Amino acid sequence: MPITDAMRARHVVRQYLSTPLPDDVVAALRSRIEDNNRAHGTDIRLVTGDARVFGPLWGTVRARSVRNCLVMSGPDAPDLDERLGYGGADLMLAAQDLGLNTWWIGGTFSKRAAARVSGATGRIVAVVALGYGATQGAAHASKRPEEVSSYEGQAPDWFTRGVEAALLAPTAFGKQAFTLSGRGGEVTLRCEDSAYAGQDRGLVKYHFEVGAGRDNFTWAR
Ligand SMILES: Cc1cc2nc3c(=O)[nH]c(=O)nc-3n(C[C@H](O)[C@H](O)[C@H](O)COP(=O)(O)O)c2cc1C
Repeated sequence: MPITDAMRARHVVRQYLSTPLPDDVVAALRSRIEDNNRAHGTDIRLVTGDARVFGPLWGTVRARSVRNCLVMSGPDAPDLDERLGYGGADLMLAAQDLGLNTWWIGGTFSKRAAARVSGATGRIVAVVALGYGATQGAAHASKRPEEVSSYEGQAPDWFTRGVEAALLAPTAFGKQAFTLSGRGGEVTLRCEDSAYAGQDRGLVKYHFEVGAGRDNFTWAR
């Protein structure tokens, strides 16, 4: 599977236009959200129109331009962050394909406000702002493939493509604090310990799979 146009075009956008989401775009998003919730046991919710998810502390001018968001939640479990990262990557790329821009927010939002606007009852891990951006954003500064990956012997094309895709994933603070190592048909993903490691892990995992092709390898346990 090739690295998608959406992966190359997606960049964090923190300022939005007031243009409302058209009904067909909302319907497409809701259907994709349902698929992800079913597949990953999560409770991701779409809030449109007046998504006030920033408390007074984070209510900067640009944050106030956010009108729509996904509230990333689910029944608490040790791997909830990773499952939300994985499903969230799918939804961010689907949103990009629908002509929207996105912003993954793991820290600078109010959990209480997000619970209030979405009605989510599980643990809220992050919110993803979405809408028509004031800009399309810009490519993040990136590490080089050899800084985040290694393969025992000659790396196959699928591994190289997977790493390239993984480097396009959003990560906390843009740190790309992960490594991918391959051996035969097995790949190990490690993320540096942090409060955001689980979310990063899911986001990077999804991108690597799309780049490498899910049938070409297995994840090491
Ligand atoms: C797990 C995670 C948490 C994040 N938390 C915040 C945040 O609290 N505030 C913020 O402004 N951006 C946040 N971001 C956005 C990142 O800063 C941004 O995705 C990163 O710089 C990479 O840029 P890109 O999205 O254009 O690839 C977060 C991203 C991730 C993946």
